[in-house]
Parts: sequence; C-alpha cells; structure tokens
Amino acid sequence: MVSPNKMQAIPSPVSPHPLPDFRAAEVRNKRVLLRVDFNDGMAENINSVGHRLQAALPTLQALLAAGARVGILTHRGRPQGRVVPALSTAPLALALAKLLQQKIEFVPDCIGRMAAQTMQKLAPGQVCMLENTRFHLGEQLNQATFAQQLALLGEVLVNDAFACAHRAQASTSGLAALLPSVFGQQFLQEMHWLASWQNAATPRTMLLGGNVVAPKLELMHSNLTHSQVILLAGVVGQTFLAAKDLHLHQSLIEFGAVEPARELLAEAGVLGCRIHLPRDFAVAEKSQLATLAATRKPHELQAGEVAQDLGPATLEIWQKVLHQAPSLVWFGSVGVWQQPAFREGTRTLANTVLARHRANPAAFTLLGGNGLLQALAAEDLLTPLQAAGVAISTGGGALQQALSGHPLPAVQAGMAHA
Ligand code: 3PG
Repeated sequence: MVSPNKMQAIPSPVSPHPLPDFRAAEVRNKRVLLRVDFNDGMAENINSVGHRLQAALPTLQALLAAGARVGILTHRGRPQGRVVPALSTAPLALALAKLLQQKIEFVPDCIGRMAAQTMQKLAPGQVCMLENTRFHLGEQLNQATFAQQLALLGEVLVNDAFACAHRAQASTSGLAALLPSVFGQQFLQEMHWLASWQNAATPRTMLLGGNVVAPKLELMHSNLTHSQVILLAGVVGQTFLAAKDLHLHQSLIEFGAVEPARELLAEAGVLGCRIHLPRDFAVAEKSQLATLAATRKPHELQAGEVAQDLGPATLEIWQKVLHQAPSLVWFGSVGVWQQPAFREGTRTLANTVLARHRANPAAFTLLGGNGLLQALAAEDLLTPLQAAGVAISTGGGALQQALSGHPLPAVQAGMAHA
C-alpha cells in the first residue's frame, strides 16, 4: 500500500475534499468488508455483470496482496427482504473466482454466526463472498440494527460500489458510520471521471438514449448550460420528436414526458444548446419486430411501423458531430440492441468514438448506463473502447444522479465519517 502522503488527491464533484483512498488504509491481517455492486438487473443473466466484476478486480487484488482477509458484500436484484434463490450471489462467487484465479468461499448469509466464523477463519490474502445483502429488508431501509450486524463481521469497510452510490443502504451508508471507511479504486476513478466532465473542454456533447425518458429530462435540464450539444436517441429521441408534433405511429413514446420535452426544447433554444433529434429511423413492422423492414424519415412512418434504431442519414450527421466533440458523455442505449438487426446505430457511433480516441488520446468520453454497456458488450466493443482510453462507468442510476448534480448518499456517508 502507498503511504498516505504519496496518495494522489482525487477531486470529487460532490465534495470539495478528496475521498479517503483504500490505499492509505492499514489492512494487513484485518477483516475487510469490500462492498461492490455486482447487481446485473437481470437475475438470469450473469454475463451482463461482466464489466462490474472486472472493474472490482484491481481493488480486490490490491487488498489481497496487502494481506487483507476480505468478505465481499453486494446486492443483486430487488428481492425486497425475501430470500430469492435466483438472486443468490453464489454464481457471482464462481464467476469472480474464475477471473481472480483464486478460490472464493461462498457464505449463504451476509450476517450471523456462519458469516462471522468464516470471516474469522480467513487467512491473510483469502476471500469469501457473502450472500445478497437485499435478502434482509434492513439493507434497503438502511436499518441501524442490520448495519450493526454487518459491522460485526469486519474491521474496515472498503466501498467500491459506485453503481449503487445513489442508494442510502445499510451496507453502503449505515456501515460507513460504524467502521473505518475508505473508497476503492473504481469508486475513486468514477469520481475522477465526473470531475473531468465538469472541467472538460468545450464544445461538451451529450448523447442520451434508452427507454426511460423522465430521468433524462432532469439530466438534460441540469446540463443545458454545461453542454453545448445534445443528441437524443432511443425512446428519448422519439419522445422529443413527438414534442415537435410528429406522429411516430407504433414507436415507443413516453407520453408523460412530451410536454416537459417541449419546454426543454424551448429552454435549450434560449440557452444556445444545440439539440439533435433523429432524422431517420431503421424501422420494423409491429408484427415482426426482429426484422429490418425499411428506413423512414420521422414524418414518413406508416401505420404498423415501429422505429427501432437510428437511420443512415442521422448516423452520418452524428458521426461528424462526435468527431468534432473533444468531450462527450454517452448515457443510454441507441436502438433496440436486443435485436441484432438494430445495432447499427450502436456500432457506428461506438466506432466513431473509438476512431476519435485513437486519433486524439486527449479526447474525453464517459460512457454509462446498463443498457448501453450491454449493447456494447453484445458487439464486443467494450474492450477496444476501454483500451483506447474511453471511460466506461459501472454506473446506471448512480451516474445519472451524479451527472444531474445530485449528491450521492454513499459519498456523503463516507465523507461524514472519514
Ligand atoms: C444498479 O444496477 O444500477 C444499482 O445496483 C442499483 O440498483 P437498484 O436500482 O435496484 O437499487
């Protein structure tokens, strides 16, 4: 571990002070609770959490190399305090053990006698995975009694779970008040990326997509003065087209967001923020959603047709916009990527980002959102993007909250007891 005076101070956009870095904590022979976020959102799909597993490795490996005895805590899904076998962390322990190339003992509860005994028995450099924290309602409710039971297991808390930093849960917030609390490498890295975006070179560009529109309105609103250009894809883009009175037939629209979208367009005009909406779509017939039927401009869509991806005219313009953007945040998926026929938008724009980074290593791009990461993983683009220096967040909701300017409860808890 590096000594505290050699640590680099990492600025935080939600706190004027650097967060306590795990590399400064004395962990040799200590029982360390490492809180990660291995939530995949889909119980049956262990592959979708791959990026989060990879992102946790540097901190885990550093702790083990420093002689810590590590118990891993994570939530998975939303079991609401019930034991749901499909949401067990047991398969995650296996997947992580393969990556780590080290045995990881699985403990079928995250509190209680067996968990305490397993933690006590760990030798320095050994690791166990505790069961889903959300199998106890106390986790979600941030109950003090549950946090106290967790605290009995460890001597130090290392929070590397940026992806759930927007939730005030017992294992992230409550526990930080009970144990010496520091932050892991991925968490610190994510805070550093957020600070980089705050100070990024102009024109700052945002590309927003995905299926849920309302939180994107807030994200846009708080970035209207910060960003000079905003591109809108997916249901977000379609809802904004509806706000311009275009009828997109069977295409998905978030109706409750149409009026606020209209107001946002007007506000963006006043503030001089350029909004790009899709100019054409790759469409499917409602009866055959997996098949590309035609390319249509928004006003040309026919009854029974569904917009599924950005069309070639849009992609040509957006590629130029992205090439000229020194700083970019891309949050949310483009197109219905679950259907291979509708991944052209994801591919083209991701390859543009890749080319831009290879040509200009000083470019800044932050990618995030669970759907976008799954789309990029499906096209084998995550690894090359990361290798080219693109910042790939583990955050979905947490990143959205932070980019919208909201404080993150896990950061507040960690700072309050630093
Ligand atoms: C995520 O996957 O975004 C986080 O783990 C938060 O999950 P939640 O929305 O179920 O709290």
